[in-house]
Amino acid sequence: MNEGMITIAYIAASILFILALGGLSNQESARRGNVYGIVGMLIAIVATVLGAQVTSYTTLIVCMAIGGGIGAYLAKRVEMTEMPELVAMLHSFVGLAAVLVGYASYIDPTNQLTGVAHSIHAIEIYLGVLIGAVTFTGSIVAFGKLRGIITSKPLTLPGRHLFNLGLGVACIFLGIGFVGAESLGSGMVPLLIMTAIALLFGVHMVMAIGGADMPVVVSMLNSYSGWAAAATGFMLSNDLLIVVGALVGSSGAILSYIMCRAMNRKFLAVIAGGFGTSGGTVVSDVEQGEVVPVSAEDTAEILKNASRVIIVPGYGMAVAQAQYPIYEMTKKLQAQNIEVRFAIHPVAGRLPGHMNVLLAEAKVPYDIVMEMDEINEDFPDTDAVLVIGANDIVNPDAQDNPGSPIAGMPVLEVWKARTAIVMKRSMATGYAGVQNPLFFKENSRMLFGDAKSSVEAILAAI
Ligand code: TAP
Repeated sequence: MNEGMITIAYIAASILFILALGGLSNQESARRGNVYGIVGMLIAIVATVLGAQVTSYTTLIVCMAIGGGIGAYLAKRVEMTEMPELVAMLHSFVGLAAVLVGYASYIDPTNQLTGVAHSIHAIEIYLGVLIGAVTFTGSIVAFGKLRGIITSKPLTLPGRHLFNLGLGVACIFLGIGFVGAESLGSGMVPLLIMTAIALLFGVHMVMAIGGADMPVVVSMLNSYSGWAAAATGFMLSNDLLIVVGALVGSSGAILSYIMCRAMNRKFLAVIAGGFGTSGGTVVSDVEQGEVVPVSAEDTAEILKNASRVIIVPGYGMAVAQAQYPIYEMTKKLQAQNIEVRFAIHPVAGRLPGHMNVLLAEAKVPYDIVMEMDEINEDFPDTDAVLVIGANDIVNPDAQDNPGSPIAGMPVLEVWKARTAIVMKRSMATGYAGVQNPLFFKENSRMLFGDAKSSVEAILAAI
């Protein structure tokens, strides 16, 4: 393929990627957005493979077959609840790729650049390796935290800000040494030391972030992986990679901003770390009063006598895969002229849009799925709220307790409804590791058990 054809293919792919992002911003057009993305990527791969830079097809085909095979297998096998971990892992691969391309580019014997061109190329390599290494280890720690292998309690080392500052200053000095290095050998030393520092920084940065702030970290690493890809594009002089990297980097940054707003956090404060105390699902020993258990039959009765019902899904719905019976129940209630709507918190579940995807999978119509801002004022006029496997996102402590790790985070005010029925298996806490006073409120009822079995039991009783 000649240069002109490749340029045309790259422009077409770039447009398709932009259309893909546009499509993904709305549930109705999300499928179409995915198709644009797939076609764009196909064009990009074919054009790159047929480009003049590719000299050995055997190596390429073997590598693509191995990578594509592993990718297809993982995508088929992964459960919806494991999606956030998979995304974190994929971000780490982008980071690692940027580091490896950086080193390969530096030791490339065909690279004969001199003067300013050499300095610019050295800066590209240095930044690419730096961002890539931070993304690599940061994403691995995020993977561990999301999977529960690493505690989501923030690691707050004494003097950690000074420590981070020291690492940053060291990277600047090493960078000056690297760019000014006369020979490959003298440049390799600062590059290696910086890589070690960046790897350490990635670990420290994400270790310092508490469970409650993980949504911001996930989207921030998404953004970093984009910038790492863009840096790789500069190193390889590949325009499409630069464009795609910049798209991912900037959309990830916008998502981080949206997540910060959704959680009422300042981005820099989250990155500085220390927010969000203990994490994981742990049983709280703090007594907050009596809880009133309710049976599935009584829940069905409450629902049948209601005229307005709101369902609040959370991570537990994803674990239980309860979205299908929930929609069956919704249809049954609607058939009895009961208004049923869904309230979606921006950080419900473990991934942006997690609940929307699950509800769309069960074919719940989009027009009854409301965002938090659209529905939060309607709770006082609601007869019954079903909280299905949600916890932190309906915790009144976020408003009432300034000392809480989730203090200031906007929450769905389900306690303002006439009755709030909370479906979960035990009195365990949510992801942020804090107890929820909602469970002890006078108008709250607890329906204990696996969300799917509970919904099926309600369905049978309606
Ligand atoms: P959580 O606060 O994690 O609460 C989920 C609840 O579901 C748990 O209390 C658990 O209680 C219950 N549960 C688990 N399995 C269940 C099952 N099979 N049946 C019934 N209940 C079950 O979830 P949330 O309210 O959706 O809040 C999300 C949290 O995750 C926030 O803290 C958010 O910051 C964090 N987070 C979000 C993201 C994004 S981007 N969305 C990313 C990372 C972290 P039991 O164990 O008692 O059943």
